[in-house]
Amino acid sequence: MKINILKQLVLVIICTCTLAVTSCDDGLIYEKKYTTTTTGYTALITGTFKGQTSWPSKYSVVVAGFNDNSDYSIIQKTLAAKKNDSTEISMLLSNISDTTKTIEIAVVNSLRQRIATLFSYNISNDQNIDDTIRINVGELNVGMFQTINQNVFQGMNCSRCHASSTAAGHLDLTAANAYSSIVNVDAYKNNTYKRILPGNADSSFLYKVITTGDENVGYSHPALFTDSKYATFQTIIKNWIENGATE
Ligand code: HEC
Repeated sequence: MKINILKQLVLVIICTCTLAVTSCDDGLIYEKKYTTTTTGYTALITGTFKGQTSWPSKYSVVVAGFNDNSDYSIIQKTLAAKKNDSTEISMLLSNISDTTKTIEIAVVNSLRQRIATLFSYNISNDQNIDDTIRINVGELNVGMFQTINQNVFQGMNCSRCHASSTAAGHLDLTAANAYSSIVNVDAYKNNTYKRILPGNADSSFLYKVITTGDENVGYSHPALFTDSKYATFQTIIKNWIENGATE
């Protein structure tokens, strides 16, 4: 009888110990998860940005976090205002969730939808959540023309057919020559027009060619803009012309 009681006592002690160890383990795991989701990464972004004031108010140039699946930013902060283009700015983005894959300098619309990526930094899988991510962007042109040049004239391969002043339509849209080939330059196929007439999109031949087409141009350009992302750029080109078509 005595031995039996002793046996039971030992059993109770073993059980309590096991329970204590298990619950202790559980506690630790939950605590770690909790920390991860509430704090997130912190990133310090520095750089010199040019041209951000060329954008109309419905667009913003932002520092933002994105995941792989969506064009809508998870977190964003408008690029800080500054006295002039050569002032270096530093911005702190905190509470960046662990689903964020890239930290970008991007142009977004009022719905926080990404229109264009101007700079992108990948958060690596082994990035330590406790360390501040330091990103030096260097000098970056975030202006409207630069964005159009990068995303349309180069990104949509216009420069594939328009690679020199003797190419299609005698139009050179390569990165370095695009601006001087179009702004206040007579159109080749219809010289009653300028290719780009600052302040007036409807009288700008390039805008006409890419939106409604023109009977003098024997190649359908609006057909190139069927993707919704590129359709947005037709509007952006219109906004850029009407805002003075600055470089
Ligand atoms: C597959 C080739 C091709 C691509 C890509 C292309 N174009 Fe063209 N483009 C042409 C051809 C060919 C002409 C001239 C047609 C003619 O001679 O009638 C032309 C003419 C033009 C003209 C008229 C130039 C003038 O002064 O008369 C403009 C403006 C133009 N393209 C803009 C663009 C833009 C902007 C893009 C990119 C979104 C683009 N093109 C992409 C083939 C192309």
